[in-house]
Amino acid sequence: MNKNVLLIGATSDVAKACAYIYAEKQYNLVLAGRKPKELKVLADDIKIRHNVSCDYLEVDLLDSNAHAEAINSLSEIPSITLCFAGYLGDHDLAIKDWTEAERIIQTNYTGVVSFVNLIANHYEEQGKGSIAVLSSVAGERGRQSNYLYGSAKAGLTAYLSGLRNRLASKGVHVASIIPGFIDTRMTEELDLPKPLTASPQQVAKAVFSAVKNKKNVVYVLWMWRYIMLIIKAVPEPLFKKLKL
Ligand SMILES: NC(=O)c1ccc[n+]([C@@H]2O[C@H](COP(=O)([O-])OP(=O)(O)OC[C@H]3O[C@@H](n4cnc5c(N)ncnc54)[C@H](OP(=O)(O)O)[C@@H]3O)[C@@H](O)[C@H]2O)c1
Repeated sequence: MNKNVLLIGATSDVAKACAYIYAEKQYNLVLAGRKPKELKVLADDIKIRHNVSCDYLEVDLLDSNAHAEAINSLSEIPSITLCFAGYLGDHDLAIKDWTEAERIIQTNYTGVVSFVNLIANHYEEQGKGSIAVLSSVAGERGRQSNYLYGSAKAGLTAYLSGLRNRLASKGVHVASIIPGFIDTRMTEELDLPKPLTASPQQVAKAVFSAVKNKKNVVYVLWMWRYIMLIIKAVPEPLFKKLKL
């Protein structure tokens, strides 16, 4: 396997933390995202600090028709693909405005699936490769405050489960990373409970460990697994009355 990693949504705070972890361990990187200027600055910094190869690739997940061309433009497809892309969006706007709702659904579900499908098919042909994708605890049960984002993440979690099931016998590893709250640009306007909030570095380390140890489903802070077990166990007649 080549020691190369492709990071999608590489401008995310978590992706940046993860990129430095891999670079420190002398992996070569391809940073994929929508902002080439920002990616170039990041790539240059990584190259200087860690003396690895670090390229960047312009990819907009909302433009599915361009995904194959972007992947084919790589001189070599990295053996590890990590996806950090996501869009929380404005839920209150989205319940009234389909453009915002569609952007939430397409960024978190259709766009990621379109790109990851192509990588997965390549890995299947090669009989090797590792894929790790960030979904969310928001996908475990729909709540009134963010069910459009949550439903897209629910679809993504189900997709990853199916992909893992399909590729397990083909030598390809698929990890579902299910964070709770993370202290990033996405949540900067939210008042998050500190003990339940992971840092980007904690999530990045969990991603690295998931790939290295071929883990299947990873809840980044251990308590989230149990919180979600409880939330999922609340009977629907009671759940529908909760302000969540
Ligand atoms: N923060 C949390 O509390 C939390 C909790 C659970 C799960 N997650 C998930 O964790 C992942 C990382 O999130 P984060 O908190 O690090 O958020 P973030 O800093 O907002 O990063 C989101 C990333 O997605 C990229 N992206 C958005 N739309 C895109 C598109 N159309 N094409 C390509 N890239 C696109 C963004 O690129 P631009 O720079 O171009 O916008 C950015 O790199 C996401 O999947 C998120 O849903 C986050």
